[in-house]
Amino acid sequence: MADSKNKFYVTTPIYYVTAKPHLGSLYSTLLADIAARWNKLKGKKTFFLTGTDEHGQKIADAAKKVGLPPKEFIDGFIDSYKNLWHSYQLDYNYFIRTTENFHAKAVQHWIEYVQKKGDIYKSVYSGWYCVSDETYLPETDLQNPPCPSCGRTSIFVSESSYFFKLSKYQDALLEFYESNPDFITPAERLNEVISFVKSGLKDLAISRTTVKWGIPFPGDPEHVVYVWADALNNYISAVGYGQPQKKAEFDFWWPADLQILGKDIVRFHAVFWPAFLMAADLEMPKRLLVHGWIKVNQEKMSKSLGNVIDPNDLLKHYGNEPVRYYLARHMSIAQDSEFSIHDLEEKINADLVNDLGNLLNRAITLSLKNDLQDLAAPAKWSPDALELKKQFLQMLELFISDMDNCFYNRALSHLWRFINLANSYFQHQEPWKNSIDKEKFNEIIAATCNALYISAILLEPIMPSKMVELLDALGTKIDKNIDQLAALQNYNWDQKFKLKKIEPLFTKIEIKKMEEPKIEKADMTDTKFINIEQFLNVELVAGTIAECSEIPESEKLLKLNVDFGPLGQRIILSGIKKFYKPDELVGKQAVFVFNLAPRKMINYESHGMLLTAADQNGKPEIIMPANPVINGTKLK
Ligand code: MSP
Repeated sequence: MADSKNKFYVTTPIYYVTAKPHLGSLYSTLLADIAARWNKLKGKKTFFLTGTDEHGQKIADAAKKVGLPPKEFIDGFIDSYKNLWHSYQLDYNYFIRTTENFHAKAVQHWIEYVQKKGDIYKSVYSGWYCVSDETYLPETDLQNPPCPSCGRTSIFVSESSYFFKLSKYQDALLEFYESNPDFITPAERLNEVISFVKSGLKDLAISRTTVKWGIPFPGDPEHVVYVWADALNNYISAVGYGQPQKKAEFDFWWPADLQILGKDIVRFHAVFWPAFLMAADLEMPKRLLVHGWIKVNQEKMSKSLGNVIDPNDLLKHYGNEPVRYYLARHMSIAQDSEFSIHDLEEKINADLVNDLGNLLNRAITLSLKNDLQDLAAPAKWSPDALELKKQFLQMLELFISDMDNCFYNRALSHLWRFINLANSYFQHQEPWKNSIDKEKFNEIIAATCNALYISAILLEPIMPSKMVELLDALGTKIDKNIDQLAALQNYNWDQKFKLKKIEPLFTKIEIKKMEEPKIEKADMTDTKFINIEQFLNVELVAGTIAECSEIPESEKLLKLNVDFGPLGQRIILSGIKKFYKPDELVGKQAVFVFNLAPRKMINYESHGMLLTAADQNGKPEIIMPANPVINGTKLK
């Protein structure tokens, strides 16, 4: 992510304002805040953009339901976003609202530019539409098919539309992905995108006539701009696109260095968005960070399921920084993660109160008790302290690499291993013993304070105010005018400290004993029972075998290329070669274990498992839905 301008531009998705923000929206925005703060620590000029997606049918319908004009309906939610972001110290530079005038002008400018190039034409769109995801569904013979992404029932639309020539950009997109393998983090998501694009791109309807709540389509006021063509352009309009007086600003900030989004909207960002930019002759964003969902009771949080966690409640009970830490450290970027209050409380106590807070408290209390307030490094460190210092440098390299690659959870695990080493060092040295002489005592406290000082700098992007408090207790602060990371890489453990007693950094949580789950008594003699949560851990998904071939080096294996619709295509190996010819399988829909860890077999990596049941002769019969379902449908 090096940039000659020494700048860093990061964006979040802009949120649909049909309700107050929830933990999922907080998570995306927090990741952006961490990225911005991390780059600031490196001395970069940063711009952090977030905001709200305010047009389209979803919003218009929601406003109508409560009898309000759309703008008034939306206005009622904006403060709940801004206030929450402030409470969580999400230090954005601009909060864009797509109903702002300058944004509408920028979108119209983009359309006019692309139209002039001949990449937009008028026709008719007829097909299924998911209002909740504001998306056109693939063609199907089914009536009101469920949306493959959110599962909600679709509606039929037939209307005059302007189309963007997405198909024209298919090859250019594939070339772009090939020459930019780091475009998407985590990398596996790029493969899904590539197989989707390879399966053939259709032109995209970018205007609607049956919806009125949107930006007027230039030159044809019967049409409004399709909400995704409107919303995606926020990333450029916010930094000056289409506004001649802001050309220098735009040239400085664009392209974005990092765009953060959840896995539900990858296709819009990794396919439509780059194509829109190509059509506008603009540069591609440098990287998309696609994170998994935060789930509660194994389901994606959603209002209709009633499992939405209100970040305001968490704020009241735990404070913003422990929640920031928990989300950053214990939610995995690459996969879906389960959020549990019990786990949050345990981790606050273990990681923050014990590992970090107590170490600070113990070192300072003991030092001050022994009249040692001003601390300087010893003339020569002893081997144990040198070992801690060596461990720090090793950790720092891993930490920097994971932070740069946006794997914040992994970076924090490295740091915590170091904090635990510092704890072991302190414990092992037993500075409280009478037998320890003054010089040695000074060294132990100084080494511990150095370890805390370093940790506090690295933790600043995660817990900004708490780390100011920590550094204050050591009598130091972060110098914002220098590249802190370069400084740490060359740091000689020679900082002078002036210790000060402070209130405990983190408050211990009284953990309520969880009720044991009630289990119905059952005859357990010959079956090992699992509970529903364990069953739901296995993702079973329907997919169609698009291609199948023999693996010549193997007696058993067939190689299947399976189409999971919106979830992309995957290679899955199956040990059924003795019983089936590849041609018999192509076009068949079957059921697959979708979240099995990838496994390498004879030079190929398998990304799932075909489900079969052996008949009385041992032939594996393939498990199929009784009637075809949409590829990518999850089994329940
Ligand atoms: N308005 C579009 C985005 C347009 S961007 C040009 C949209 N909005 S949304 O309100 O539905 O928010 C989507 C984003 O919120 C997701 O991509 C994700 O970043 C975040 N999350 C919403 N629910 C989430 C979870 N349960 N878990 C984690 N993040 C999720 O789509």
